[in-house]
Amino acid sequence: MALQINPSILSADFSRLADEAKAVEGADWLHVDVMDNHFVPNLTLGVPVVESLSKATDTPLDCHLMIEDPDRWAPQYIEAGAGSVTFHVEAAAAPVRLAREIRAKGARASMALKPATPIEPYEDLLPELDMLLVMTVEPGFGGQAFLDIMLPKIRRTRQLIDKHGLELWLQVDGGVSAATIQRCAEAGADVFVAGSAVYGAQDPAKAVTELRHLAEQ
Ligand code: DX5
Ligand code: ZN
Repeated sequence: MALQINPSILSADFSRLADEAKAVEGADWLHVDVMDNHFVPNLTLGVPVVESLSKATDTPLDCHLMIEDPDRWAPQYIEAGAGSVTFHVEAAAAPVRLAREIRAKGARASMALKPATPIEPYEDLLPELDMLLVMTVEPGFGGQAFLDIMLPKIRRTRQLIDKHGLELWLQVDGGVSAATIQRCAEAGADVFVAGSAVYGAQDPAKAVTELRHLAEQ
């Protein structure tokens, strides 16, 4: 699979979401961070905003649910137009059932790990997933520094994916920028979320292209 760059709308201007989404229409997916002020200490947006965004852009939506009880809420994000739904394993009551439900409803099923959550206990779940997200910051805020200590986990996850011969995408999220994206790619990530590195740039579309070139090197 070609490497993918997913700009995170979290770093965009929320009063101009439709324009901000259109500004990165060359990107593969638009990453939408849903936070509930319980699973993480921050509050962003919910189902109605995702529904409006999905009508405002042709770029498919990659919804990252940083919420409690994703088992209950994930289906609503698919109905609102999400093409991919990521739940946190730390929050899910029944990750296998949830992944199957997401797929059955026609979206890509993805599971996220916070920095302190190891991949090894979840090896047997990998065939149930279309993407695995290794967080490279503590979830909750954009603009944080990339955690280098996550590189070994990215490497181990890539080895597990390859060992099982899976098509699973390996996403990294948090502190991904021109300075860090190559380390992530070398470690085996193939989907890169970038918030401040894209929306903090003068030309967000150009920033996406530059990140893509760096990752492909
Ligand atoms: C953080 C979010 C990220 C955030 C990344 O909890 O999950 O998607 O937008 O922002 P940057 O790229 O600025 O670290
Ligand atoms: Zn995210």
